[in-house]
Amino acid sequence: MLKGKKTSIRPIEEDDIDTLYQWYNDQEVNLWSSGAWPLNTLHSKDQLAVKFLDGSPDTYSYAILDDDEVLIGTIGFKEANIPARSATLFVVIGNKNYWGKGYGTDVLITFTRFLFTQWNFHRISLDTWDENLRAIRVYEKVGFKIEGRQREARFVLGNYHDAILMGLLREEFFSIHGKF
Ligand SMILES: CC(C)(COP(=O)(O)OP(=O)(O)OC[C@H]1O[C@@H](n2cnc3c(N)ncnc32)[C@H](O)[C@@H]1OP(=O)(O)O)[C@@H](O)C(=O)NCCC(=O)NCCS
Repeated sequence: MLKGKKTSIRPIEEDDIDTLYQWYNDQEVNLWSSGAWPLNTLHSKDQLAVKFLDGSPDTYSYAILDDDEVLIGTIGFKEANIPARSATLFVVIGNKNYWGKGYGTDVLITFTRFLFTQWNFHRISLDTWDENLRAIRVYEKVGFKIEGRQREARFVLGNYHDAILMGLLREEFFSIHGKF
């Protein structure tokens, strides 16, 4: 298990699927995480079990726990590019009671350090959309920089929004947070 200051990270277990089912079908969680609202099809527990338990060769997901070991979200990476040693990170604090209380910052620092040290990545990318200011702020606190903006690439609640592309290099991360 990976330990942060107020979160820890472990593999996703079968017993987690019922909770993931609630979050991944929650409109507000989906609105912020992908801009998709309303969902056209609900995710089934079977689909989520395949996605999170069977996994895919290119997507690695983990559970986020609070300091009482309560499941509060998921974090992971996909699209690993071996020669470039890069990957794309994703994170969702699915339990809304935990938003804005420092859990996201803590888990992102822990997980990003793990990707740079244990997985030996050189660069981590991610994307969000322009109104997700909380996410942009958290990513900037971890060290991510805005590298680009895809104009009107997202359509959310009847309006076009820019996609925000962010990236972080290993040495930048270490210079802010240290190696260990
Ligand atoms: C995005 C997410 C991971 C952030 O985690 P979190 O635990 O809520 O964030 P933290 O409490 O660690 O930090 C939030 C920061 O954003 C700031 N913030 C919150 N709302 C903000 C707003 N509307 N505008 C600007 N800053 C804002 C907070 O003040 C805090 O910064 P500070 O520590 O400098 O004061 C989490 O909220 C989440 O999963 N949300 C739903 C799904 C989602 O958006 N996922 C990301 C998809 S790209």
